[in-house]
Formats: sequence, structure tokens, C-alpha cells
Amino acid sequence: MAKREHWGSKFGFVLAASGSAIGLGNIWKFPYIAGQNGGAAFIFVYLICIAIVGLPVVIAEILMGRTTQRNPVGAFRKLSGSKFWTAIGGLGIIAGFIILSFYAVIAGWSTGYMIEALRGTFSTLRTASDASNHFNSLVGDPTWMIGFYAIFFIFTMAVVFLGVKDGLEKGSKIMMPILFIILVILMIKGISLKGSEAGLAFLWNPDWSKITGQSILIALGHAFFTLSLGMGALMTYGSYLDKKSNIPNAAVQIVLLDTLIAIMAGVAIFTAVFATGQDPAVGPGLIFNTLTVVFGGMTGGYIFGLLFFILLTLAALTSSISLLEVVVAYFVDERGWSRHRAVLILGSSVFIFGIPSALSFNLLADYTYNGKTFFDIVDFIASNVLLPFGGLLIAIFVAWIWGFDKALIELKHGAENIFKDRSGLIFAFKVFLKYIAPVMIFIVFLHSIGLLESAIEQVKNYWIILVLVIVMLVIILSRNRMNK
Ligand code: TRP
Repeated sequence: MAKREHWGSKFGFVLAASGSAIGLGNIWKFPYIAGQNGGAAFIFVYLICIAIVGLPVVIAEILMGRTTQRNPVGAFRKLSGSKFWTAIGGLGIIAGFIILSFYAVIAGWSTGYMIEALRGTFSTLRTASDASNHFNSLVGDPTWMIGFYAIFFIFTMAVVFLGVKDGLEKGSKIMMPILFIILVILMIKGISLKGSEAGLAFLWNPDWSKITGQSILIALGHAFFTLSLGMGALMTYGSYLDKKSNIPNAAVQIVLLDTLIAIMAGVAIFTAVFATGQDPAVGPGLIFNTLTVVFGGMTGGYIFGLLFFILLTLAALTSSISLLEVVVAYFVDERGWSRHRAVLILGSSVFIFGIPSALSFNLLADYTYNGKTFFDIVDFIASNVLLPFGGLLIAIFVAWIWGFDKALIELKHGAENIFKDRSGLIFAFKVFLKYIAPVMIFIVFLHSIGLLESAIEQVKNYWIILVLVIVMLVIILSRNRMNK
């Protein structure tokens, strides 16, 4: 067997994994959901979710990858030897396939908007409704949609084609610093606009009345998506690490970078939105319909608009390569394919599978099921079902099946100094991974598939049974422990 590829340095890994995490989720989605859910208070809840659920699962995924040196299917198989868990790894590969197909469609919009920026279109947009008409006419054009989707896809395939060190790592080392610099420039521009204080106030002054059960669930679901959790993307990246690397340390860096970029994007966008008196709570159209008008009206808007869409496209690219890499790694590890063959065949397959998503905004817009287009359906299946389900099982697997104590022994490789004489830290990690993360993810899962409300009803009716079941489970589990 060929020797497994590895990262050139730990820094390269951290950049690539942050590149996976930082994407459309940070720059497109985070600002608009924060805008819709009241700003500062939402961000506060989101930060808590990132810390108590996100970080432990990030560590768990990277650890599974590093320990087994395998893609998600191989990782589950090697650690469990069971068909059931191997199939869970397989769900991750399928999720990667599906997410890439629609993620690249949105990334295609961003790619196309770089050209719109170059053509100077934004200065012709006076109001948000001009902008949304323009947006609709672009996405309504199948050639435009498929064309930019294809262009973005070719870039994604090219990077993965080049391999771990020369593609994923080098690509991230070039793109991430550019992304960071652009974001700093946009942030400074935003803050320097007259009236930007209102935007900053929106981000820093919490309005707690806006926090509802619903917004907490949105925050938790987003924490998952933005950290690329639940389908083995970080597991796959972790599988290219060697035993000497310090996982907790890398995980903290990845999580902090991801959070920092989301907040910076929020500052850049809301200062500009408030300074020009636009509505912060418009939802998914915030970038394409609101921000474009803001660029159209500001001095230097031509260049700032262009920079913004370069930023968005680069962020999407460093994420889409991680999605393709998961699928490719599976075919390389488990089926013995060469990397090049896997990239060409699977890249093309995902591309073809995504075509109906690209056409969901035009030719196929009327073909709906329960009011959902093909795009909506695949998005729902992947983001609301497969990811939370996968994340739940990954947390349960590491904490209970592989077993926390065994996992901890592996985790200590390369991180001896962190855990030395820190029983409090270990205890906290154990509680989060074994109990808090699975329970919280389970609640998000019920919510995302629309079952939370009825589950609450059921609990009200049958709480006695539930309590009995829990008591029995605890007894059974603790007896198992004692037998070991
Ligand atoms: N985290 C990326 C974003 O915020 C999206 C992403 C990349 C992703 N890889 C993933 C999401 C794997 C879930 C799973 O845009």
C-alpha cells in the first residue's frame, strides 16, 4: 500500500481545517441569522454552543482520524469492528457528497458575483428591490447558474487533485491569509463609515428578549455546520496528522479562528448595513440583496464589492475542498483508487448530482415536493438530518463505544503537557463529551426534523415511563462498567 499522505506541518493542518470550517456558513449565513435573531444576545448563545458542544466534538473527530489514519468508514471499522458503526461512517461520505453538490451551487453565485462586481453592476442598484430583481434574473438564468457552478467546481477538483500537501495545505496557506487581509480591510472600511456605531451596538448590546428556544436551537445547529462537524470532514483531515501533533491545542485554534472570522464578517457587514440604513433582518438575501446596494452607494464601493465577493468565494473554496476530500479519501483508502482517478470520477459525479439543485432556481423551480425544490430537499436531508445525526453518533461513539478512557489515552499523545496533573480538565471534557454534547445534539436533531414539539408533548404524557427507562439504562450501564 502506498504510504499515507501527511500534512507538512501542524500549522498547515490548522489552516486547512480552519479553511474547512470557515466558509459560506461564517460569511453568508452567520451574519443573517444573527441579524434575524437579534444580534448580540444570539451571538452570546452561539459562543456558548461553540464552546460546550462544538469544541468537544471537534476534538473527538480529529482524534478518530488521527488514531486510525483512515477515512470515516475505515475509522469506524477499525475502532469498532462492527457493521453498524462502519455504516455510520458511510453516511458521512454520503453527506459529504450531498452537501458539496448544493454548497457549490451557492458558491457559484458568489463566483458569478465577482464578475458582477467587475462589471460595475452594483452602482446601478439603488434599492434592495433593484438588487433582488437583479439577483432573481441571474439565478433564473440556467446558463449563468450552471456556468459559475461548473467554474467553481473545477477549482475545487483541481485543488483536491493536487493532494494533501500540495493541494489542500498549500491552497489553504495561500487562500486563508488573503481571506483574512480582505476581511480586515472590509472591517476597517465598515467601522469608518458614518453611522456605523448603530451596527456595532447591534452586535454588542444584547436584547435578551429576542432569545427563544428556537433561536438557541438555531445557534446550536449553526455551531455544528460552521465547524464542519458531523460527517467526518475533520476526521479525514485528522487522518493526515501524525501522533506527535497536539490535538486539543489545534482544535482550540481552529474553533477560535472560525469564531473570529464569523464575528469579523458580522462587524464588516452590519456596520455597512446600519450606516446606510438598510434592514439587518432580511434573512438569506442579506448579502446578495442588501450588501450589494450598500456597495453601490459607498465611495470605493467598486473595489470593496469586488473584494467582498473574492472573500466569499475563497472561503467557500477552502470548505468545498474538504467536502470533496472526504469522498475521495474513502475511495482511495477503501477501494484502492488513485487520488487522481477518485477526484475525476467522484468530482464529476457530485457535479452531475448537483445540476438539479442549480436548476431549482429556474427550470425546475416548479417541480416541488411539499413546497420544497430539489435544492431545498437535499439541503434539508444533509443539514438537518445527516449532520446532526452523524454528530450525535460520533459523540456517542467516542464517549461510550470506543470508550472515553481509551480515547483519552490516544488524545494524550502529543498533548502530555496539557493533561498532566489536570484531572479537572479531563473531568470537564468527559462530562461534555459523554453527556452534554449528545443530549444537546439530540435535541437539535429532533428540532431539525420537526419532531421536537411533539416529543415534548409525548414527554408530558409519558414522563413516568421516560423516567423509568432512564433509571433502567443507568442501572444497566453502571453494571456493565463494574463487570469490566
Ligand atoms: N463549515 C463550512 C461553512 O461554514 C461548511 C462545511 C465544510 C461543512 N465542510 C463541512 C459543513 C462538513 C458540514 C460538514 O461554510
